[in-house]
Amino acid sequence: MVPKWGQFLRGRAAPKIMDASIDKSRLPKHVAIIMDGNGRWARSRGLPRAAGHHAGMVAMREVIRAADDVGIEAITLYAFSTENWKRPIAEVQYLWTLLEEFFKSDIDELVERNVRIVFIGNTNQLPDYTQGIVKRAIDLTRPNTGMVVQFALNYGSRAELVQAVRSIAEKVSRGEVDASCIDEHVIASELQTCGVPDPDLLIRTSGDQRISNFLLWQIAYTELYFAPEMWPDFKRNHFLEAIRVYSSRERRFGGLK
Ligand code: FPP
Repeated sequence: MVPKWGQFLRGRAAPKIMDASIDKSRLPKHVAIIMDGNGRWARSRGLPRAAGHHAGMVAMREVIRAADDVGIEAITLYAFSTENWKRPIAEVQYLWTLLEEFFKSDIDELVERNVRIVFIGNTNQLPDYTQGIVKRAIDLTRPNTGMVVQFALNYGSRAELVQAVRSIAEKVSRGEVDASCIDEHVIASELQTCGVPDPDLLIRTSGDQRISNFLLWQIAYTELYFAPEMWPDFKRNHFLEAIRVYSSRERRFGGLK
């Protein structure tokens, strides 16, 4: 039985942002999120780390809904990195349990919202049962045409780049690709994110300001937003505030205004 920690879910008051105060013509198309701070959130309340992850799942649900409501086209959630295997096995297993709980409780709503679920990362290294959950979520939402929710699971950007370089090298050695034709498009097409445009906005919660091996190629021109809140405290209005800040920024992509 998974304990419920709902009574601890009251964080710092979120800024009052109404959806209407967001300039819909300047929305990021794709938002990537490093959901950090579950452990610290739990520790500060004298709770086990699992409680932080559970509250993190609740926050994740709220942010997915907010993103869809406001009209974001794609959202990528860093749920488990290739480095997260270094954690105690019980914590890792609890994360798989949470993934199952999330899809059991939310898949109907996601289908109803016309959301398409995709995964990046080496999901073939996950436990068989978890792979089944991943496959089911993909299959059930495959025909959907609305917001793409991309879960990064057993994902590491360096591993993704290594895989891409190997694949290109093999094509060159088979004579399918001329080395002189390798350009940014060829590399991007070998990445697991192929088909989803690069993120416009990357949010990291918890106050830490690092990228942690997340989408290194894809965030070359992404706007960065670091929120002080621990992930379980990051509510709908915090997300909308990040979108509002993004929409007020000027992006030049190395050019002039
Ligand atoms: C980072 O916080 C968070 C994670 C490694 C897991 C993210 C998981 C969720 C948001 C819950 C939903 C789960 C799945 C699998 C969909 P941390 O534990 O590193 O926090 P800390 O830095 O404060 O210790």
